[in-house]
Amino acid sequence: MSLSVSLPSELESRISLRQARIGVIGMGYVGLPLTLLFSEQHFRVTGFDVDTHKVEALNSGKSYIVRISGAEIVQAQTSGFTATSAYAAISEMDAIIICVPTPLDEYHQPDLSYIERTATAIAPHLREGQLVILESTTYPGTTEEVLIPILESGNPEKLLAIRNPGDRGFYVAFSPEREDPGNDTVARRDIPKVIGGVEPTATSLASALYGSIFNRTVPVSSPATAEMTKLLENIYRCVNIALVNELKQLCDRMGIDIFEVIDAAKTKPFGYQAFYPGPGLGGHCIPIDPFYLSWKAKQFDFRTRFIELAGEVNTGMPYYVIEKTALALNGHKKCLNGSKILVLGLAYKRDIDDLRESPSLTVIELLRKAGVEVFYNDPFFPKVGRGRHYDLNMTCTTMENLGQYDAVLIVTDHTSYDYPQIVAESKIVVDTRNATKGIAASNIVHC
Ligand SMILES: NC(=O)c1ccc[n+]([C@@H]2O[C@H](COP(=O)([O-])OP(=O)(O)OC[C@H]3O[C@@H](n4cnc5c(N)ncnc54)[C@H](O)[C@@H]3O)[C@@H](O)[C@H]2O)c1
Repeated sequence: MSLSVSLPSELESRISLRQARIGVIGMGYVGLPLTLLFSEQHFRVTGFDVDTHKVEALNSGKSYIVRISGAEIVQAQTSGFTATSAYAAISEMDAIIICVPTPLDEYHQPDLSYIERTATAIAPHLREGQLVILESTTYPGTTEEVLIPILESGNPEKLLAIRNPGDRGFYVAFSPEREDPGNDTVARRDIPKVIGGVEPTATSLASALYGSIFNRTVPVSSPATAEMTKLLENIYRCVNIALVNELKQLCDRMGIDIFEVIDAAKTKPFGYQAFYPGPGLGGHCIPIDPFYLSWKAKQFDFRTRFIELAGEVNTGMPYYVIEKTALALNGHKKCLNGSKILVLGLAYKRDIDDLRESPSLTVIELLRKAGVEVFYNDPFFPKVGRGRHYDLNMTCTTMENLGQYDAVLIVTDHTSYDYPQIVAESKIVVDTRNATKGIAASNIVHC
């Protein structure tokens, strides 16, 4: 193990020879798959996480993410992968990649505390010539205004982030993660990696590193450009989903099937990309990231009206689902209060084991407030307790005897469900995802 100062050329050759030691901080949905990519290419990776349960699981060759198998962790161990909660090992790394959460706080403002705590923890162990890369999604300016000052002030040798060729210190870049959980249409290697270094050497070092696991790297002129690129991608999704969510409500009133409209529109070979309506936004990214930018924009006396409007439409969707469910029950001379409803799907999207910001949670809470006795089924969640924004304390129910419920509400369209059977057995099926497409039955309510 070498703790000597690495010149950029030395680090580049350590990367190309697969000798560079890589530390990934945050062994979550982003950090763990990234670790596996590096391990596959025979890099020795150390995973850092404050969650000791995750560290123990990984060191025992186990995975806690459904789409990652224990065998993949064991395979990574053959390339030297280990996990730890001890930051002292940071000094042994050549490159340190930060993948910690960036949520919103209770006032809907960026909560950078995870990045700040990580920077504070690694700063004392930094050494000259290391490459530090931030991957967490955040507003433009975070790398240079928040991360670097903490790294610079917290290391005992008073190393500074290198800003000009010939400076001595450590290299810093921002490179956004473009993970799309559950999407198997593009291999991770084929997703181009955008990289913005604080100065050109940082960009080229980070490009050399990521170039060894991704087929294409996209260098940009600064960390802020890379930070903004990620936000543009997510805001684009958020705004377009809001557009179809609004049009879905209009189509409903007009008696037009929005999904049929989208299917027809997407036959246009240019100028149109299909987005689909649903019960509301979910996940760690699309409902949150746009607000990082609106917050930052205020510093520049600027209002991001598209983001606000999209947020308004998208947050209104669970309420629309409740309204449609109430109307459906009304058609059977029933009301929400006192009814028994089964919610299908807790995950924020199909076939994944992630319920962060899931619209199902809001739907369940709204139903309960309305006096509904709520049950749920989700193959990925045997039970659900308490999270940052919810406290459900429920256990997954079976898919048997669906006729006992006044309505079955499809919030997440997992592929394991037998939709014809669900429709055949249920009194009313409220379908927020077009999961019952092609099934002709009078008990289906599309919403
Ligand atoms: N999940 C996605 O699909 C996705 C996609 C693109 C970008 N992102 C972004 O990537 C970042 C990470 O997201 P995620 O989904 O992997 O989050 P996650 O919650 O799954 O994982 C984060 C991990 O970081 C650990 N952690 C927290 N503080 C730490 C600290 N101080 N030191 C070490 N470990 C610490 C947590 O214990 C957790 O294991 C976020 O900024 C997110 O917006 C996520």
